Amino acid sequence: MSEPIILGIESSCDDTSAAVIQGNRILSNVAAGQKVHIAYGGVVPELASRAHQQNIIPVVYQALQKANIQQNEISAVGFTRGPGLLGSLLVGTSFAKSMAMSLNVPLIEVNHLQAHIMAHFIEDANPHPPKFPFLCLTVSGGHTLIVLVKDYFDLEIVGRTIDDAAGEAFDKTGKIFELDYPAGPIIDRLAKEGKPDTFTFSKPKIEGFNYSFSGLKTSVLYFIQKEVKKNPDFVRENLNNLCASLQKTIIDILMDKLEKAAREFQIHEIAIAGGVSANSGLRTAMEERRKSLGWNIYIPKFEYTTDNAAMIAMVARLKYERKIFSDLTVAATARYDLESELVNIKK
Ligand code: KG4
Ligand code: ZN
Repeated sequence: MSEPIILGIESSCDDTSAAVIQGNRILSNVAAGQKVHIAYGGVVPELASRAHQQNIIPVVYQALQKANIQQNEISAVGFTRGPGLLGSLLVGTSFAKSMAMSLNVPLIEVNHLQAHIMAHFIEDANPHPPKFPFLCLTVSGGHTLIVLVKDYFDLEIVGRTIDDAAGEAFDKTGKIFELDYPAGPIIDRLAKEGKPDTFTFSKPKIEGFNYSFSGLKTSVLYFIQKEVKKNPDFVRENLNNLCASLQKTIIDILMDKLEKAAREFQIHEIAIAGGVSANSGLRTAMEERRKSLGWNIYIPKFEYTTDNAAMIAMVARLKYERKIFSDLTVAATARYDLESELVNIKK
């Protein structure tokens, strides 16, 4: 018998995405970003919900067309239940419920963070998927976690940020450099032309495997304010070096704790996931650890790093196999802990 076909829907922040998976193979992965937020320097929740409303039907329609399947071939509908912006999540949740109900197929809720990690198991995400147990540095605009992944549904958070996420550190300091939102990919591009050792920014001293990024943001702000008083063109004249130095600082902070966790847990299987895992400097830093520390590294294909529905469809497939379905009373939730019993279903 052929593998079931599952539709995945993602709408947790500012990307409306739909994907079709069959087995572990992605047949389509369509996303509509929202440019409307650039003018505001960050995601405006109300505008995000409205854009999801406009995008969701065309995006799902395109995903089905690209996959070359009919609605009646869908075996289940998976959707992001949380965490994320409630108004955004409501659009995907309501759509998924209606679709599952009209097709009379199972509805499957997915935790967005679990999905970022499980993107590694999509057939073309990696040459080989990671082996359990592995550590996954999960770094996005809203989260920074070191997760000990013992099995698909057995996840333990061993470190997390106590304030800003790594993606926020890129985006908020980018704002100080007067870059558009989201600044992460722009800093990545400009950093390639700069020298990372030009400026030194402060690194936090935090216990254990936890992170902190709010001090870095403040130290960059004070530094820039001081320099701009002396030279109003300071940022423009030093932009590439500022980006390279900032990026290096963020990566050093991330890698220090990841190395510490790898030593403590004696694990050499190390993965990265989430929007910031698209960063070329972070990818290079992982490659360096592969050579110097003998890590087996797992870096997902670029299209599965930032928010996408392929990763949602992947988790939905894992739950489908285990018959873990949601009923129609399931509600979107802005906070949805990775370790909550809903995710942490032991086989
Ligand atoms: O996973 P994601 O798409 O959305 C959330 O779940 O938050 O991550 C978005 C974050 C943003 O902060 C964005 O600036 C950052 O990922 N990002 C990057 C890069 N691409 C996206 N940060 C650094 N370098 C990149 N190349
Ligand atoms: Zn995300």
